[in-house]
Amino acid sequence: MDNSPIGVFDSGVGGLSVFSELIKLLPDENYIYFGDTLNLPYGNKSVEELVNITSDIFDFFKSKNVKAVVMACNTTSALTYDILKNKYNFKIYPVVQNVSKQIADKNYKKIGVFATLATINSHAYKKEITSYNPSVAVYEYACPKWVNIVENKLMDEPESVENIKTNLDVMMKNNVEKIILGCTHYPYLLKVLTRFEKEELFINPASYFAQSIAADLKSDDMLSLTKNFDPVFYVSSNPEKFISASKLFYDVKSAQKIEISKSSEKILHVF
Ligand code: DGL
Repeated sequence: MDNSPIGVFDSGVGGLSVFSELIKLLPDENYIYFGDTLNLPYGNKSVEELVNITSDIFDFFKSKNVKAVVMACNTTSALTYDILKNKYNFKIYPVVQNVSKQIADKNYKKIGVFATLATINSHAYKKEITSYNPSVAVYEYACPKWVNIVENKLMDEPESVENIKTNLDVMMKNNVEKIILGCTHYPYLLKVLTRFEKEELFINPASYFAQSIAADLKSDDMLSLTKNFDPVFYVSSNPEKFISASKLFYDVKSAQKIEISKSSEKILHVF
């Protein structure tokens, strides 16, 4: 048993799609959510920038004495987890690495991945999935506009719908059986995506992810028994905008703005 909190982070509201699945399976945990709205979007940033950002966030969670950090963010899981994974004494759960086996085990022949530019360029999903099942063909496609569409609640704008449909049409030319929504923000667009394709086509990795985290904490006897559900939300800028965009996955009532960045000299420190 371990009553220390679990940290969950993402660049903004996207990680709430993971948080909302996590709390269904682990309602007795203490949660600290950090939405890095100041640095959003992560998907266009370099590895160096993302390592600095992630290590600032890990240091923040360390100061909160967390037992585990959930890297809800696909982009940082793909680009910074391997670099930082041994530098902290809490458990670290990266989304891409934690869900790929379960997806590979389904034996699909052709899988699509929609994700940020940085995640797609890293080929993290393709590498992970084919490491478990080399016979799957993985088609990766970046959707750089989608994070801003979600954060700014622009999903019903004709321009957004057109962009979403165009990306979907390109992907569907590959005759994929499933499409992984490989960015936590993308499940917020299901209402638009399902105007053109059936909901069953899309994989929101969040439920696989929550299952693997719950199983791991349980097997290591690290579950909390506090029964005192009271998550705390922090953001690095504009709490009002975060609260307003949150509603689809979790109705955040209040969020506190904090400054955690120490950055610039860290590039030298990390590499
Ligand atoms: N939602 C994050 C992800 O899963 C990051 C998106 C972004 O900020 O570009 O990749």
